[in-house]
Amino acid sequence: MHVVIIGTGYVGLVSGACLADFGHEVTCIDRDKAKIERLKKGVIPIYEPGLEALVNNNMKTGKLTFTTRTDIAVGRADIIFIAVETPARQGDGRADLSCVYAAAAELAQHIKSYCVVINKSTVPIGTADEVEAIMQKTNPEADFDVASNPEFLREGTAVRDFKCPDRIIVGADTERAIARLKTLYHPLCLDKPPLLCTNRRTAELIKYAANAFLALKIGFINQVADLCEAAKADVQQVARGIGLDKRIGSEFLNAGPGYGGSCLPKDTLALSRIAHDFSAPMTIIDAVIAANDQRKEAMARRITDALRGDIKGKTVAVLGLTFKPETDDMREAPSLVIIPGLQQQGANVRAYDPQGMKTAKHLLKDVDYCQNAYECMQGADAVVILTEWNEFRELDKTYMKSLLNQPVLIDLRNTYALEELETFAYHSVGRPAA
Ligand code: UDX
Repeated sequence: MHVVIIGTGYVGLVSGACLADFGHEVTCIDRDKAKIERLKKGVIPIYEPGLEALVNNNMKTGKLTFTTRTDIAVGRADIIFIAVETPARQGDGRADLSCVYAAAAELAQHIKSYCVVINKSTVPIGTADEVEAIMQKTNPEADFDVASNPEFLREGTAVRDFKCPDRIIVGADTERAIARLKTLYHPLCLDKPPLLCTNRRTAELIKYAANAFLALKIGFINQVADLCEAAKADVQQVARGIGLDKRIGSEFLNAGPGYGGSCLPKDTLALSRIAHDFSAPMTIIDAVIAANDQRKEAMARRITDALRGDIKGKTVAVLGLTFKPETDDMREAPSLVIIPGLQQQGANVRAYDPQGMKTAKHLLKDVDYCQNAYECMQGADAVVILTEWNEFRELDKTYMKSLLNQPVLIDLRNTYALEELETFAYHSVGRPAA
């Protein structure tokens, strides 16, 4: 099949590379000429494990190509994915769909034979209807269907998530569109992830509902963690105790400094706005959003408390800046709230992150960026684990103690067992003090 993907962000690039790997002829389009030139040379704009090799291998076999020319690519496409960005609109948090609509209008002009146009971007309910209307208006002769096929991949495990999905959601209103999507995903479905066919509006809502439910789980366990601290209980055991119930499930029950990233914060906000627009307010999600915002602020106070409220002039070493490990993405990372919070109270902040520092340097000023975790701890009054990168899981405690002014570790990801840190003043999340 000839597949065209418009937009080479996370979702577009990963989907394109994986579909090429399954044997389809894939052309990825982006209007950013410099980005396309770099991609043609095999330079990947994001850090995502496995993606660089996948892109390069499929470029070599000719299955994956990159271009800025919508006109040529679209003319022979069987399937066209719209995978452009849908950022939260400044001011009201609704998804900004201008890129989606611009892509729809442009590609409509170049359709030569029947094709299915698929919204892969996360878009509000009714966007497929709007895309269809724009395309029909732009080119009344064009033969096409519009479908919704949301993507659930996670940063850091995006290639694996695309290749081994829990489910594939196909929102389409015609049999021929469904048949084409089934053919597209046939290689993937050999491993039998369920392919669920719904109408387009349902598919659009599934994506928001999934991300909002994940945010809800995290928000819930974070508040349980606070309760555990007050009641001298252990949140990890509570999470295990409830997660073994199949109706609840054990994943996404790790207490921490609050969720971040490019999706959960944006999509919860957008769902809240959508629900208000349909006069069916989701007050549960409103509460999750508020609790997550407050949590990030509370984490700066927690660090201050670990230093007995006296942080002015003290040096805090922060390990991990990205919103989660195995990504260089800093969007909505808790570090962006916690570090300025510490600085406002007069602390000096040193920081190290394996992949995030290039971007962090633009976002977090007056931070002393270090080459590795141990350099970061040198002469610090406390060390904070903010993102659970693997390299922070086996730190040499004796060496740490020789570097730190005092052995204070605030572990906001519960990276260590309590008994491992008995000789430290060890503060973790939702667990009794060591
Ligand atoms: C998310 C969804 O998981 C994915 O399905 C969707 O396609 C895109 O949005 P992603 O943003 O890559 O993926 O990150 P995710 O793994 O969901 O983590 C989001 C945030 O929640 C991170 O800040 C992470 O640290 C936090 N988190 C996650 C927790 O605090 N506790 C958990 O148990 C899980």
